[in-house]
Amino acid sequence: MTPQSLSEIPTPALIVDVPAMQRNIARMAEYFANRPCKLRPHFKAHKTPEIARRQLAAGSCTGITCATVAEAEAVSAVCHDILIANEIIGGDTCERVALLSRHHRITIAVDSAEGVREMAKAADRAGVSVGVLVDLNVGQDRCGVAPGPDAVALARAVVDAPALRLRGLMGYEGHLQGIHNRASREAETRRSMNQLVQTAHLFRDAGLPSEVVSGGGTGTFDISGNLDGMTEIQAGSYALMDTDYGKLGLPFEYASYVMGTVLSRPTPERCVADCGHKSCTKDHGLPDVRDLNGARVTALNDEHAVLSLPATSTIKIGDRIFLIPSHTDPTLNLHDVLYAVEGDVVLDLWPVAGRGYKPHK
Ligand SMILES: Cc1ncc(COP(=O)(O)O)c(C=O)c1O
Repeated sequence: MTPQSLSEIPTPALIVDVPAMQRNIARMAEYFANRPCKLRPHFKAHKTPEIARRQLAAGSCTGITCATVAEAEAVSAVCHDILIANEIIGGDTCERVALLSRHHRITIAVDSAEGVREMAKAADRAGVSVGVLVDLNVGQDRCGVAPGPDAVALARAVVDAPALRLRGLMGYEGHLQGIHNRASREAETRRSMNQLVQTAHLFRDAGLPSEVVSGGGTGTFDISGNLDGMTEIQAGSYALMDTDYGKLGLPFEYASYVMGTVLSRPTPERCVADCGHKSCTKDHGLPDVRDLNGARVTALNDEHAVLSLPATSTIKIGDRIFLIPSHTDPTLNLHDVLYAVEGDVVLDLWPVAGRGYKPHK
């Protein structure tokens, strides 16, 4: 039976505060409403089609960004224009991209001749055209070709593949998202993303298509999104937020919580709840505790959250506690459903359809 109120939800559970999430979505959409640069919300942050649908409905969007083919498949029910901002290599991934391209506008990232060859082969076999962005390393040192002539050379290889359609270029300044000082974040981001914009100029000089210049995230949305030449921003975490981004003073609120039940209060200064790191990740540090004065998480074990408390705390066995995740993406990936709530009332259950690694159907 669908729970009607918070107290009926089995724990641990991921709770989405719908009004807070809607305010985040509206604030971001409003920022991009009257700018040349638009928003392409990153699905990997929540992997939940219903949230993507609401992001698109709020406006200012060119489409949705995904990190994997499985995410693109999951979001394809609510979005026609999907960028997989990642290299597509191996297994059946290129075939699946080609299949999706039959009825959707799919664009992928490439940073190698192998990537161009594999996608071109699959697209050609399926008789479809797949969009391509050349992926630039703008300093994160993850994937990506060097800005400048290397990127132009790879773009030419894309143009030479008949089943591929070069659309432009992307670069993700992931190494700069968390810089705490706003002035430094701004200066570093401008320097980094200028390489992307300058390479887009080289594409134009060489007669290569560059209608898409894509990048950016929640920490840099109003820096990269305000840079001449950028056409879309791939921010994702802003919809639900986490304590890592919460430190930056961004105009977004916490909108998701891991709810647990107190299992034990062995001493006045300690209680233990059922929401360990199998329900709330700790790769970006321990989560914060909401609405419990003086409480803090001291450890997350597999199935236990250990909290230190003031001895005067009235919390007791059976009470609910709420953790604010430090990293939203992998925490959402741990849950099959989100409980969409307003206050105490459960409005809906939203499947996290893009989570996990499943064999292709
Ligand atoms: C390619 C890419 N674009 C954009 C983002 C931005 O996401 P967020 O706004 O959640 O930081 C990420 C996050 O890791 C990413 O990998």
